[in-house]
Amino acid sequence: MASKCALITGITGQDGSYLAEWLLGKGYRVHGIVRRVALEDPDHRLSRLKEIRGRLVLHAASLESYASMHRVVHDVQPDECYHLAAQSFVSYSFDDEFSTLNTNINGTHFLLSALKTLTPDCRFYFAGSSEMFGMAETVPQNEGTRFHPRSSYGISKVAGFDLTRNYREAYGMHACSGILFNHESPRRGFEFVTRKITAGVARILAGKSTELRLGNLEALRDWGHAREYVQAMWLMLQQAQPDDYVVATGQCHSVREFVELAFSHVGLDYTKFVTPDPELYRPAEVNVLQGDASKARRVLGWTHQVEFADLVREMVDADCRALGMI
Ligand code: NAP
Ligand code: GDD
Repeated sequence: MASKCALITGITGQDGSYLAEWLLGKGYRVHGIVRRVALEDPDHRLSRLKEIRGRLVLHAASLESYASMHRVVHDVQPDECYHLAAQSFVSYSFDDEFSTLNTNINGTHFLLSALKTLTPDCRFYFAGSSEMFGMAETVPQNEGTRFHPRSSYGISKVAGFDLTRNYREAYGMHACSGILFNHESPRRGFEFVTRKITAGVARILAGKSTELRLGNLEALRDWGHAREYVQAMWLMLQQAQPDDYVVATGQCHSVREFVELAFSHVGLDYTKFVTPDPELYRPAEVNVLQGDASKARRVLGWTHQVEFADLVREMVDADCRALGMI
């Protein structure tokens, strides 16, 4: 039997790179959609893919252009499509609501529409987010918890979730949404708090910096490891029936706990280096995210393995290694 063909948007990102590795390991032919500039500046923009670059087929296209998405779907004829591309930084969505909504909502709509027209049997994964719960009325949150997004990013993800469900119900497509809680790794972007902290610790240890400016230290997040979370995406598309799933560890920790552990792992006291910066607070904060992934455990057989403290240590070690500190 011919190997399956997967198309990944957002393949250059943290999750895209882990997912591409996972699918290659399963024998898939893996195609990715990237921005045109990525092909012109591969050392920088394809850095997370450098180990597997030769085994991927990359297509330049724009999430903002239906025609370009249509062309790629037509050329690739995917069996499975993982839609991970998005303006994914919540803070930035307050600075530019328009491009966040445009990219995230239209990108999802264009892709679903092209798949419906060209490859209606293709299975589709949408990268939903715990930010959709926002100011949640209950803790922990599960698939039945009401959405109350607190940013244009969260709103765009609710719209993508609704579009995905609608294509499933209206056109019978095998379209799933994962409602993924925060997941991190040494490949996390530097703008997100976990990587900002672990990269900051390494710089301080290396004598390249003396302070780390942070916003709200009391926010609570349910942090898991990205390498494990992409496996849940794949599992969703292997089920006979399409559905939506929460993916989370079930445990939450404050940003302060993350900071404390990251600094103490290299023998430093965070109170000597962390400076509160009111500029880094968000106009509307999401205070508590904690997921209940019992449906994913029951139906998909998925459960997290990497615990919080091990995740923090892995990230700190990777950043210290990159600066030659260990
Ligand atoms: P990420 O590292 O920020 O990667 C985002 C990807 O989207 C990158 O490949 C980026 O391409 C691409 N992208 C952004 N804007 C684009 C545009 N206008 N046109 C084309 N491509 C664009 O994010 P991630 O952590 O891997 O997350 C993957 C997906 O899961 C995102 O949709 C995110 O919102 C969602 N999610 C993430 C988490 C989490 O905790 N990581 C949790 C829930 C949901 P460039 O490299 O060219 O910028
Ligand atoms: N980025 C950042 N920078 N966040 C800070 C800082 C800082 O200096 N100081 C405190 N925080 C707090 C934020 O206010 C937020 O409460 C928490 O740290 C986590 O922020 P991020 O790491 O930026 O992630 P996020 O939770 O907003 O969003 C991530 O997870 C979502 C899933 O819940 C992203 O990956 C989203 O794409 C994803 O959907």
